[in-house]
Amino acid sequence: MEKETELILESLSQEEKEFYRGKRVLVVGGAGFIGSWLSESLHAMGARVTCLDNMSTGSRRNLENLLGKEGFELIEADVTKTEIGDYDIAFHGAAMPAPDMYMERPVEAMLPDSIGLLRVLEGVKGRVVFLSSSEVYGEPEVVPTPESYPGKVDPIGPRSPYEESKRFGEALAMSFFRERGKDVRIARIFNTYGPRLDPGSPYARVVTRFVERALSGKPLEIHGDGLQTRSFAFVSDTVAGLIKLGACSDCAGEAFNIGGEEEVTVLELAAIVMELTGSRVPIVHTPPRPGDPRRRRPDISKAKRRLGWRPRVSLREGILMTIEWYRRMGYG
Ligand SMILES: NC(=O)c1ccc[n+]([C@@H]2O[C@H](COP(=O)([O-])OP(=O)(O)OC[C@H]3O[C@@H](n4cnc5c(N)ncnc54)[C@H](O)[C@@H]3O)[C@@H](O)[C@H]2O)c1
Repeated sequence: MEKETELILESLSQEEKEFYRGKRVLVVGGAGFIGSWLSESLHAMGARVTCLDNMSTGSRRNLENLLGKEGFELIEADVTKTEIGDYDIAFHGAAMPAPDMYMERPVEAMLPDSIGLLRVLEGVKGRVVFLSSSEVYGEPEVVPTPESYPGKVDPIGPRSPYEESKRFGEALAMSFFRERGKDVRIARIFNTYGPRLDPGSPYARVVTRFVERALSGKPLEIHGDGLQTRSFAFVSDTVAGLIKLGACSDCAGEAFNIGGEEEVTVLELAAIVMELTGSRVPIVHTPPRPGDPRRRRPDISKAKRRLGWRPRVSLREGILMTIEWYRRMGYG
């Protein structure tokens, strides 16, 4: 079993693990970064896992520990164009989360969390966990940001295809909850990094991009002055939070922040990556990205109190595990 899956299972109670045993679980976007770790952990707990993925950013390689195993099935299809069958629980994580990608193809980016989620909510009779994002808060005026903060988002700004489709997805899920009594839960995920976030892709996010470039001896590119902050969560922590939310007995119709509390500037992150890779590469500043929030940090007191969840992997530990994985993949 992979170290990340072990860490996820260690964070769960016996009751939470029992909850998934034998359940039919659908993971939409299951061949992606978060989705593949989620699928692997659910399968390890004895769930019967179906991944539905159109492989736009996901890959079969992410599922290599699962393909061909009893109790695992992969459906290669577009969630916006597929009839969804019945499952005990569905995690909906199909999306186009990388800014460069959704700014280039904004129309396509709007569909998985609107039309796709609608199909999941209509098809699945059981519980639906929607993988939303800290982006619903836009440029928050309250940091650390609690779930009660309604967000400050420009509906016609360049980030709106992602931000607004997540906001629409949340509103759609809550409408099913209020009108039809559907059991829905919303996870507002903050920046997550770790193994399987494709380093070769131009869309890899900041931690992975820095690690890959430091290992390959290339300069680290920082958008703007680098004083913008982010709080990163290692993927095992984020996935443990999602699994706990799915198993929670009284969380229907609610949103939970899932993210790291260690807030660092992008410049500080660059320094940590250089120190841990032992590589001295130059830093190059590029123009700031339009609408990039200055600060991003979740208030996770609700998830701590209600789900018994907290991040367990420090930024340094997580970056070290990420570096190890990239080295195994042949970088540096
Ligand atoms: N990684 C993060 O930092 C982060 C932060 C906030 C929210 N999220 C959310 O978590 C979820 C997973 O993100 P990720 O980081 O693993 O990204 P990812 O790109 O690796 O995963 C998304 C998956 O969805 C699939 N997909 C996209 N459109 C699809 C469609 N129309 N039909 C079927 N499959 C489709 C992709 O092929 C991919 O496998 C997303 O909903 C994302 O918005 C992630």
